[in-house]
Amino acid sequence: MSLSFLATSITSTTSNNPLWRKKTNPLFNVSKRRLNISCEQRQDDLHVIDRRNVLLGLGGLYGATSTIGNKGMLAIGAPVQPPDLSKCHPATDDETKQPVNCCPPYSTASVVDFVPPSHSEGIRVRKPAHELNTEDVEKFKEAIAKMKALPDDDPWSFNQQATIHCTYCNGAFDQAGIEPPVLLQIHGSWLFLPWHRCYLYFWEKILGKLIGDPTFAIPFWNWDAPEGMHMPKIYLGNSSPLYNDNRDKNHYESVFDYKYAYNDPNPTSPSQVDKVIRENLCQVDRMYKETIRNPELFMGKALRAGQSVPTNASGSLENLHNSVHQWSGPPESPYYDMGNFHTAARDPLFFGHHANIDRMWDLYNNFRGHRPEFKDPDWLEASFIFYDENRQVVKVKVKDCLTSHQLRYAYSPEKLPWMNSGLKCRKEKASKKKGEKKSLQLVSVSEFGTEPRTLTETIRVIVPRPQVSRKKGEKEEASEVLVIREIDAPHGTAARFDVYVSKPIEGLVSEDRGEFAGSFVKIPHTQHKTNSHRHKSSLELGITILLEDIEAEDSKKLVVTLVPRMGKVIIGGVDVDLFKVDDYED
Ligand code: C2O
Repeated sequence: MSLSFLATSITSTTSNNPLWRKKTNPLFNVSKRRLNISCEQRQDDLHVIDRRNVLLGLGGLYGATSTIGNKGMLAIGAPVQPPDLSKCHPATDDETKQPVNCCPPYSTASVVDFVPPSHSEGIRVRKPAHELNTEDVEKFKEAIAKMKALPDDDPWSFNQQATIHCTYCNGAFDQAGIEPPVLLQIHGSWLFLPWHRCYLYFWEKILGKLIGDPTFAIPFWNWDAPEGMHMPKIYLGNSSPLYNDNRDKNHYESVFDYKYAYNDPNPTSPSQVDKVIRENLCQVDRMYKETIRNPELFMGKALRAGQSVPTNASGSLENLHNSVHQWSGPPESPYYDMGNFHTAARDPLFFGHHANIDRMWDLYNNFRGHRPEFKDPDWLEASFIFYDENRQVVKVKVKDCLTSHQLRYAYSPEKLPWMNSGLKCRKEKASKKKGEKKSLQLVSVSEFGTEPRTLTETIRVIVPRPQVSRKKGEKEEASEVLVIREIDAPHGTAARFDVYVSKPIEGLVSEDRGEFAGSFVKIPHTQHKTNSHRHKSSLELGITILLEDIEAEDSKKLVVTLVPRMGKVIIGGVDVDLFKVDDYED
């Protein structure tokens, strides 16, 4: 199967759906304007300075290792670099706070630049796990069994491969050359998608090597389609090399509810299944529509050398991805394996899940006409190191893995049931019939206030909008974004809250929460702890389409409802802002 065939089938799937068609959907009517990312560059960190100033000071030396004298000022505005292999230290298990060894089995290596596969190489086609034929399943099992049979200290071994995830996310390394030290962390920023793409790429190539099949492709867990919204059978069956016992066994036969939080009733009751599936599909559809013009909303925000997570925010895709981890892993602390980053990749299911995440990025890139999501060199030049299928340590740059095509793999073109699904996604509007208004219980809502608030019970606040009744052209220039600021979730632990938006009725609000806008979902992961102040994250949710759906275009204010689901979370504030779209000339 050639790639052009795949590309055509994906494109035609896309263009068959009127909502997504370029001509009819303003989202895809991408105008050519200069790149403007000013909206995403609010720096919360006052200790950072711009690279250009550093460059002047250093006579043009370009590097991530520059530091500026006193007060721990860091040179940012440089791409995150691979770690110094000789400086690995114990990592931290987020839940237990115990040190763990996540260092690679080598501390020196001659690192060569990654060379993307040649175009004469065939395209490896990743298929949905629930549709694999027996031959494909057996091949996958054989490869994993061989990987598991390797000596534990072999960088190709299943355990060492799983440890790589811990290395890059639990603080086994600091960012090279940065003082004071900043933990290397590839979650919670624009590095999330490219790093995981590379990780899977080498995992797949090594598996192929182990079974002598260069065409070998890993399956993906197609959890964005109704048939895939459960744990794929291939990962079940406790004698299989694909099995892992550390999961939530209540979910083996259950539909995957994206809104699941620990302590929810297990499993989802049969009467709820249709509703859960519909709401899941609607959530994916909305995620794409609200983020298609603003990659930072989908992918996560910038992370430059010297900055630490979670100064910046995860994108919508990463938040949704966290729900999959929580639903798959066991519901008790320390949530091993899937529910804790330190251990997540010990479960073969992890790779099926991440292949789908990668596929969703691939779709996003496709919808946007294959333009790189960011033109910023601090993204394109950011780099990581991996131990490859030729037993060579290679340095891979983000720009090497912007598309699956560059890496010679593709996803089988599945139907996208969330896209233009004709599903009733929006909630029924409150009846406006005369006389019925009295029966609605209306209460007044106040503003958030200036002090941070702990989310122990549902918080409802009224938030002014920067502009009302925006015209079509104005919406093409800027997306309306709900910003939940300064989210302080306890170090390392799991947390979740859901966000709803509704329109006030003459300054009052009904009991109804309104329309679901998105969730903040956090799985245990190591935060930076060397700086004196705590880093807080934020949640940014596009609401341009949502406001059309609830007919709140002309409303000067919105009611935002924050529903606590898990963990102790403190919120700094809630705003509605306009984010300039990122369109630019190629
Ligand atoms: Cu690196 Cu799903 O996490």
